[in-house]
Amino acid sequence: MRVHINDPLDKQATEKLASVRGVELTSQHYEKDELMKLMPEIEVLVVRSATKVTADLIEAGKKLKIIGRAGTGLDNIDVEAAKAKGIKVINTPGANSISVAELTIGFMIACSRHIARGTSDLKNGKWTKKELEGHELFGRTVGIIGFGNIGREVAKRLAAFSMRILAYDPFVKESDLPVEIVDLETIYKESDYITVHVPLTPETKKLINKETIDKMKDGVIIINAARGGIVDEEALYEGLKSGKIYAAGLDTFELEPPTDELRQKLLALPNIVATPHIGASTFEAQERVGMILVERLIKEIA
Ligand code: MLT
Repeated sequence: MRVHINDPLDKQATEKLASVRGVELTSQHYEKDELMKLMPEIEVLVVRSATKVTADLIEAGKKLKIIGRAGTGLDNIDVEAAKAKGIKVINTPGANSISVAELTIGFMIACSRHIARGTSDLKNGKWTKKELEGHELFGRTVGIIGFGNIGREVAKRLAAFSMRILAYDPFVKESDLPVEIVDLETIYKESDYITVHVPLTPETKKLINKETIDKMKDGVIIINAARGGIVDEEALYEGLKSGKIYAAGLDTFELEPPTDELRQKLLALPNIVATPHIGASTFEAQERVGMILVERLIKEIA
């Protein structure tokens, strides 16, 4: 069975997959044109978020049986095209939730206390103590949009900061955690922090936009460690620039890497903290994600 891993997968998980009898494994990142040429021979394709498994790539996979996604989001895979060809799509929801939740809280603190700006000022020889007064999390209100695996892990940790926690999720009506399940309007109106933990779908695309930002409290802090495109980055830029938004923490961008003019402008603002889509990039999460995915793949192919 020809298995190809096109994005980095945990070493131990890769070795486990390679040791399965009958598996012929290759592991190397190819850009689309090159990968296209290999597709006719590949039976199992393993990706993370960098490889876009588009309908034409799937069409070229004449022997393709399984697409393994080492992670949660399926927005980089044309699941409908796979389904139409009877190709199974296997992912690992939940396996990296703790890492994403911890990064989210890191962003909330970094945004509140100007950690990135303070670091860069010091590196540039500037002592900006007077300019960097911030906020406590204690007693303030956080609105969590999307209350699945990651949203719940965020809430559990924020309870330790004694925050008031609001959560919205169309599929959740009550919770065992110390949160108030509310509607979106309440989230916008009452939150000092808003963090999104939803997949990117037609319904969630640009959910945070000019109109919804206008409904938010002045000085709101916005975090997106979910998917680029959920937050309208043009509206975010305007809000950050005008001071309507106090700060933003972004791990994901509509365009990755964010090299275009708009995103460069956004990244140049002093009140933004940003990382290059590393929410799931911890040794612990990658080992968990890799091993869970490989166990699921082995069940299918062995
Ligand atoms: C996910 O959807 O789980 C993450 O985006 C994973 C990744 O970084 O590849």
